[in-house]
Amino acid sequence: MRVLVIGSGGREHALCRALAADSQVDEVHCAPGNAGIASVATVHAVRATDPAEVAGLAGKLGADLVVIGPEAPLVAGVADAVREAGVPCFGPSAEAARIEGSKAFAKDVMAAAGVPTGRASTCSTPQEAAAALDAYGTPYVVKDDGLAAGKGVVVTGDREAALAHAAACERVVIEEYLPGPEVSLFALCDGVTAVALRPAQDFKRAYDGDEGPNTGGMGAYTPLPWAAPSLTDEVMATVVQPTIDELAARGTPYIGVLYAGLALTPDGPKVIEFNARFGDPETQVVLDRLATPLGGVLLAAATGALPALPPLTYRGGAAVTVVLASENYPQAPVTGGVIGGLDEVAEQCEDAYVLHAGTALDADGRVVSAGGRVLNVVGTGPDLRTARAVAYDAVGRVTLAGSHHRTDIAAAAAESTETEGTL
Ligand code: AMP
Ligand code: GLY
Repeated sequence: MRVLVIGSGGREHALCRALAADSQVDEVHCAPGNAGIASVATVHAVRATDPAEVAGLAGKLGADLVVIGPEAPLVAGVADAVREAGVPCFGPSAEAARIEGSKAFAKDVMAAAGVPTGRASTCSTPQEAAAALDAYGTPYVVKDDGLAAGKGVVVTGDREAALAHAAACERVVIEEYLPGPEVSLFALCDGVTAVALRPAQDFKRAYDGDEGPNTGGMGAYTPLPWAAPSLTDEVMATVVQPTIDELAARGTPYIGVLYAGLALTPDGPKVIEFNARFGDPETQVVLDRLATPLGGVLLAAATGALPALPPLTYRGGAAVTVVLASENYPQAPVTGGVIGGLDEVAEQCEDAYVLHAGTALDADGRVVSAGGRVLNVVGTGPDLRTARAVAYDAVGRVTLAGSHHRTDIAAAAAESTETEGTL
């Protein structure tokens, strides 16, 4: 099988790495890719949000499957164009991807499907925003209604700051605050049937102790030893299946990964957000543990064949990923710095590896930073405590002037158990 992955981040590096390890996959291509992805896939230049260009590349390569990583191409209709060209595609249509592209649309689908989520109002004027803030109370949750790469959400106790964020966006969704730990659950969907991957937890805030601004994600781990073993089944029954049933009933079947970002509230799991793609960096740890070869799984989803897929299997143990971010990420990332220590990690850290996110090669062939989240270091081990220690040992060997990372990824979870997790 020949697979083309669209995207250029750590998530796509993880996808390409897992596909390259699948004996059923003969060729892995990635467009546009990055400096690290080039070591596991053949990279091609492409404007990832141009439907005709991506479909054309898939045709030229004779791809048997196209996997679309980021949300922007999905919302732009790239999956539609690839499918129209007759190539199986893992990724929802533009219409179905609105589940991520428009928070108001997602709320409408959830209301129709009876999916548990916070109460919310869509506001376009300062008066509407003020009324909604007062109706739901603090902490205030104000979300840009459009795509904002995980950075359009402000959660604050400061009414002025909440109003200022609302004023800076054309349209916002203001919603009630959902208390409780957050979990990311990815469901592979073929339009009708959904299969869950293992849940993971992401760290959204920039700094230790969940301080600082929201980011695309600063680290993740799996399994979740503290979560109830029934969590996945419960979320599939109350959230995922009703949502894909609703989308199918609307004539826009959902094909790809439905990412449910959940708060485990005292009243049960509630949806904080849906994404139309794999989460980054949760995918890096989930795919690390997945033992079932990935190519056949994604092809089954893309071709309506999930019911025939045997249950997924996982390696034991745990995986932890830590994001190395550029100076000034997420506000105004500094790029272009030379990254050191990558060879040392490869040579000396047996149970750790680096996935590239925002990297490039400079004119001298050196790996340099080219984005906000620069790379992910993944550590693995028999339990979270070991995986975490392995990850941080490797992070300590990577150098990039001005870079920062969180030091508390999976810290609390690693302390919560001495043994392998239940999920
Ligand atoms: P989102 O982009 O919708 O995932 O929001 C980013 C982050 O903001 C989430 O991961 C949560 O940490 C936080 N957040 C968003 N909505 C809520 C909410 N209703 N209640 C509590 N936290 C929220
Ligand atoms: N890790 C959060 C996201 O991918 O949106």
